[in-house]
Amino acid sequence: MIVSRLLAFAATPVLAALLAGASQGGGAVPGAPTAGDPYFPQSGDGGYHVVHYRLNLGYTPASRHLDATAVLTSTATQNLSSFYLDLSGLTVGSVRIDGRAVAFSRSGVKLKVTPAHALRRGRTFSTTITYSGVPADVTDPDGSADGWITQKDGSVFVAGEPQGAMTWFPSNSHPIDKSTYEVEVTVPDGWTAVSNGRLASRRSSNGRTAFDWRETSPMAAYLATAGIGKFQVQSYRTASGLPVYNAVDPAEAKAAAPVLAQLPAVIAWESKIFGRYPFDAAGAVVEHAHSVGYALETQTRPVYDRAPDIDTLVHETAHQWFGDSVSLNRWKDIWLNEGFATYAEWLWDAHHGGPSTAKRFATDYALPAGNDLWSFPAGDPGDGAHIFGTPPYERGAMVLEKLRERVGDQAFFAILRSWAGEHRYGHGDTAQFIALSEKISGKKLDSLFATWLYGKGKPATP
Ligand code: TRP
Ligand code: ZN
Repeated sequence: MIVSRLLAFAATPVLAALLAGASQGGGAVPGAPTAGDPYFPQSGDGGYHVVHYRLNLGYTPASRHLDATAVLTSTATQNLSSFYLDLSGLTVGSVRIDGRAVAFSRSGVKLKVTPAHALRRGRTFSTTITYSGVPADVTDPDGSADGWITQKDGSVFVAGEPQGAMTWFPSNSHPIDKSTYEVEVTVPDGWTAVSNGRLASRRSSNGRTAFDWRETSPMAAYLATAGIGKFQVQSYRTASGLPVYNAVDPAEAKAAAPVLAQLPAVIAWESKIFGRYPFDAAGAVVEHAHSVGYALETQTRPVYDRAPDIDTLVHETAHQWFGDSVSLNRWKDIWLNEGFATYAEWLWDAHHGGPSTAKRFATDYALPAGNDLWSFPAGDPGDGAHIFGTPPYERGAMVLEKLRERVGDQAFFAILRSWAGEHRYGHGDTAQFIALSEKISGKKLDSLFATWLYGKGKPATP
């Protein structure tokens, strides 16, 4: 009786249309081909969230060839008729959704995937992409190389900030989307592959070794790495039980050793200031890749293009709290990463016989109005070409020194700890940081930030 009534109703044009809509996902539309960040409009994609990446990478240093499979477990955040992933270069062999081959097409750095049936909002689905080729790095608007950077001997340096993740795996490549990772890299015996988090297993067969890495805390795609080289490996636990895994190019080993030996002390010291260390692993990948020209705070295990000095180690370690655990919603807020990591260097130096942070501020303030330092506000770089300019780093640190002077040490360090704690494993933006500073200090701080974070040029008085 009920069944036949339903069938009769289903025969009406209205319900027929509703049912047809439902089978297509009811108002399903394509996901956006961008995260909507004006600094890097090609980065990221809308309509879904990647919960987990599983990457299987087979790499041959002699030919520089990569043969890979990526399995992305994602959740639709809208009814999706199609969606995009970011992938630069390489050849895609197939795309499957929940095991079934689906249509795909490529345009620029966008891989468009069209499922056979629309994906309903809230649905979890897996996307399996096979791809291969010789990866090429991308050039950032500031001219630096970014992504999978191959060295002459076939070793690989991987630093994806801001847009290089797309050079080695299909991803939703904007920090707004954070995911857990399993990265398994297979290389010829004698080579070592190092990624984020903990090494779950290492197996050799037929002349090749597979390194299986797990990052269990949410991570932005740009912080994923896969350093490949003939490394010297050191692994141990710190006094507090944190596993450390360092991989060092032999050419840098002598210079790196005394600095890397300080990593447990740096983590312990920063934990006292910023709150507990956010991750379950630590370490470093030190390569011999001087042409890269920078280091990157890849999650749990920063990559260095050469043996770091202690300030660089302190800087990349501080990013584990500021940038990695607490991520940006938009690249404009880059000072929340770089200003904080630079201020950590100031604190470390002051604590080890160097100038006080007040002195560092004064030295910077003394720089003439024409200096690069004053070329744009730390809180408003203007475009993607300027995020790694001097102001987000150095003026970013000056903002924090100003804040500290205004609210006092007790409130200041409470603000830093609360920031790291309240936004742990998530995101934070500048407005939230200012609101938190006002709440904890009980002071109105809008003019301080207007002058020191957003002011154009050199402020008239220090
Ligand atoms: N975030 C890095 C650091 O401060 C620096 C960095 C990453 C960088 N990518 C870059 C600098 C590209 C210049 C160009 O440790
Ligand atoms: Zn930095």
